[in-house]
Amino acid sequence: MKQVSNKKTRAPINERNSEQLSIQWFPGHMARTRRRITEDLKLVDVVAEILDARIPQSSSNPVLRDIIQSKPRIVLLNKSDMADPVKTSLWVSAYAEKGLKAIPLDCKTGKGIPAFYAGIREVLQERIAAWERKGMVGRPIRIMVVGIPNVGKSSLINRLVKVRGKAEVQDKPGVTRQNHWFTVGKGFELLDTPGVLWPKFEDPAVGEHLAFTGAVKDEILDREGLACRLLTFLMQLYPEAVNTRYKLSIRPEDGLQGYEILESIGRKRGMLISGGEVDTERAANTVLDEYRGGLLGRITLEMPEER
Ligand code: G4P
Repeated sequence: MKQVSNKKTRAPINERNSEQLSIQWFPGHMARTRRRITEDLKLVDVVAEILDARIPQSSSNPVLRDIIQSKPRIVLLNKSDMADPVKTSLWVSAYAEKGLKAIPLDCKTGKGIPAFYAGIREVLQERIAAWERKGMVGRPIRIMVVGIPNVGKSSLINRLVKVRGKAEVQDKPGVTRQNHWFTVGKGFELLDTPGVLWPKFEDPAVGEHLAFTGAVKDEILDREGLACRLLTFLMQLYPEAVNTRYKLSIRPEDGLQGYEILESIGRKRGMLISGGEVDTERAANTVLDEYRGGLLGRITLEMPEER
C-alpha cells in the first residue's frame, strides 16, 4: 500500500482557532465601524451590500440587517466572473424569495453595472414616486457601499466612477467628518468611503472559505493544509474541474483524501524532490494560485440551501 506522508494528519484549518485569521476584528473595531456606518446611513437612500459570489454566505456580515435596520438594501454578487453561473442564479432566486434584490456583478469588466442602477431604482420605486409627488423630480439617489474586506468595494467604487468618465467630487456636510460624494451613473451619488464590515468569525467554515478565496493573508496560513481541504471540497463539488485541470481521472467515490489528490497533482506536474517524493508545498501553492486565478473554472463553494 502506498505510504502517505504524515503531513496529511495536520489539523485542517477549520479545526483551528479563527483568531489566527488576518482579517482581525475586535469588539472595539466593530463598535467603531457600526457607529460610523450608522452615521453614514443617515446620508444615503440605499445600501449596496457587496458579497463574493463564490461564497455569498461566508462573505456576508452577520449583523448587517441590525445595523441598517429599515434602510433599503441591494445585494451585489461580485466576482461573478469567477463564480458558477448556475449557482449564482440560484442565489439570486433565493434572495428574491426573501424579498431582496440581488445582482450578479463583475467589477473587473463592469458587467452588471446597468443592472445595478436599474435594481436600485426598482428597490426605491415607491420612494422615488413619493419624491416626484412632492415635486422632487430628478432628486439624486444616494448610495453607500458596504462589505467585508476583499469582496471588491474599492473596485466597485473605482469602476462606477470610471464608467461615468469623470469623477465629480463635492463636499457635503457630514455628521462627524467631511463626506465626499461621487456623481455616478445618471442621477446617482455615491459616498466615497465604503463601510468595511467584519465576517462571521465564530463559524470556522467561514474562515476556511475566506481563506480558499484568498481573502485571508496566506502568510499566517498552512497553505498545504488549506490546499488539501480545498481539493477535498472540489472533488465533491467539481471533480471534473480538478481532473481536467490536472489531467487526472479521480472519481469522488474513490474517496481520496485531499493530501492524496495533492500528491497526484504534484506528481503529474513533475514537482519532485530528492528521493522522488512529491514537493507538496509547491503543489499546494500551485493549486491555491490556480484556483484563485480562476484556472479551474467558475466555481461556487456555497449553495443557498446551506445557509
Ligand atoms: P475591498 O475594497 O472590498 O477590500 O476589495 P478590492 O476592491 O480591493 O478587491 C479585492 C480583490 O478582488 C482585488 O484583487 C480586485 O481586483 C479583485 N476583484 C474585485 N472585483 C472583482 C471582480 O468582479 N472579479 C474579479 N475576478 N476580481 C475582482 P487583487 O488581487 O487584490 O488586486 P488586483 O488584481 O486588482 O491587483
